[in-house]
Amino acid sequence: MRRLWFTSVAALLALHAAGEAELSPTELQDGRKLYTAKCAKCHKFYDPAKYDDDQWRSWMTKMSKKAKLKPAQAELLSRYLGIYRTGLGTNGISTGAPR
Ligand code: HEC
Repeated sequence: MRRLWFTSVAALLALHAAGEAELSPTELQDGRKLYTAKCAKCHKFYDPAKYDDDQWRSWMTKMSKKAKLKPAQAELLSRYLGIYRTGLGTNGISTGAPR
């Protein structure tokens, strides 16, 4: 079990290193703004790390519709929130709620 967990973390790290999860400072800022404007108007910040992949994906699909996100916005937000999921917030952002 432990080994499996470790393997998936390693895979995520590899993905990250490949640039998949990288966000520019502007994207980070926009992601945060999007969350505040589109998601936080209905509820608090839910920590993406508390959900497994399937759960998170289905919530994002459902909530992107609720928030009427444009495809580009949904894409940015899912990358932005992905930082919280993988705990790889190395761009100077903390894993607290976006302000
Ligand atoms: C129109 C109001 C509204 C908007 C906008 C909205 N949500 Fe939600 N959200 C809800 C409600 C209501 C629930 C309760 C669960 C349900 O809908 O079945 C929920 C539930 C959730 C959950 C699951 C919480 C749990 O119970 O574990 C997550 C995660 C979530 N929202 C994320 C988001 C994200 C990310 C966005 C922005 C893209 C967003 N929401 C936008 C109303 C909203």
